[in-house]
Amino acid sequence: MDRILIQGGERLIGEVEVSGSKNASLPIFAACILTEGENLFHNIPKLKDIETISKVLKTLGVKVDPVEDHTYRIDATEVPYCEAPYELVKTMRASILVLGPLVARKGEAIVSLPGGCAIGARPINLHLMGLEAMGARIELKKGYVEAKADRLRGADIALDTPTVTGTENLMMAATLAKGRTILRNAAMEPEVVELAQVLNKMGAKIEGAGTSTIVIEGVEGLGGVNHTVIPDRIEAGTLMVAAGLTRGNIKLLNCPLHHMEALIYKLREAGVEIESDGDGVRVVGNTRIRSTDVKTQPYPGFPTDMQAQFMVLMSLARGLSVITETIFENRFIHVSELLRMGANIRIKGNTAIIQGVDHLSGAPVMATDLRASASLVLAGLVAEGVTEVSRVYHLDRGYERLDEKLARLGANIKRI
Ligand code: EPZ
Repeated sequence: MDRILIQGGERLIGEVEVSGSKNASLPIFAACILTEGENLFHNIPKLKDIETISKVLKTLGVKVDPVEDHTYRIDATEVPYCEAPYELVKTMRASILVLGPLVARKGEAIVSLPGGCAIGARPINLHLMGLEAMGARIELKKGYVEAKADRLRGADIALDTPTVTGTENLMMAATLAKGRTILRNAAMEPEVVELAQVLNKMGAKIEGAGTSTIVIEGVEGLGGVNHTVIPDRIEAGTLMVAAGLTRGNIKLLNCPLHHMEALIYKLREAGVEIESDGDGVRVVGNTRIRSTDVKTQPYPGFPTDMQAQFMVLMSLARGLSVITETIFENRFIHVSELLRMGANIRIKGNTAIIQGVDHLSGAPVMATDLRASASLVLAGLVAEGVTEVSRVYHLDRGYERLDEKLARLGANIKRI
């Protein structure tokens, strides 16, 4: 079990490259199931979750080969199997993204129910409701979803909530359905738009991705593509918070500024300077951080995946700030660890009230989910003394060697 040791107090200075987007890569890998051909993807981040989705695809008989650094060749000319096993799906919920493509391509799918995770129950009722509307027969047996359909047919589907992977699953399934599908109250995340662009390159007919109404005209089949995946806006945001916390001065390369408006607005309110700078984005932390209030929302609102990281910044801001988490019911697990480091935070339901303190103190802390573990690393960068973060496998699921990137920027951080 790796742990990360951080001696706080160093300013971050220098240049760092933002890796490819995890949450764009995962649905794009699943989309290959729809293609009778070979796909080549570039700028794929080296993450545990990418290894897991690759294993799921290989279990289905799809050929997945890392070609070189950050490039993968995926050939789904044949998809002989249709079962995604529990032991894989339980390690990464996003494996549910193979459900829609499998039903569309093979007419059958047996996928383990993903189950909940630390941040919430994470139901998939809307994924299943949409597939049923398209004519799939769904049964839940022994913790698995069994879905069958001779051929899916287009449907007019209204989603109760703009679920990101729900939108992605149904959009992928609809590409091979007979007729037109309309997804209403669809998620508008950049990763949904990226998936639609890749599907259209594969031969699908999708319009409206990025708005709340997506229209998909079914086609007979899809072919392989060569595509470079967009950068990761959450990794970029995490690095921006790190610069703000440490009064740093960093330049982010390959930074998707146009996917980050709501976050950048709040970071600027907190006093972090963010400006385009030639081929990158300059981020400068000021001496004193200003408090501001945040409410997480579906895109284009403030992203829930940045809530824990922003809370660390507010823990050291001058004054009181209020953070409201509206997406997940249990996404304040990082708070108890931050309290152990001297933060002053009170929780009332889905609202956290943060009174800024003038410093945090290093301590042994434990990560519980992907973004919570990032927030503990951020706190360690600026805390007095040594912070030891355990269970960093959570971190490695969603960040490509974050400790090495921070060390290259001058942080006193090492993995043991
Ligand atoms: C995606 O998860 C992301 N994961 C999450 O990132 C992200 O936090 C989340 O979207 C919200 O932005 C990937 O893209 C792989 P949702 P997803 O379905 O799709 C409810 C990370 O850190 N809901 O948009 O699972 C659900 O309970 C991860 O990279 C239903 O009720 O999230 C939640 O309250 C963590 N029924 C809300 O919708 C459903 O059928 C949003 O969930 C589906 C969802």
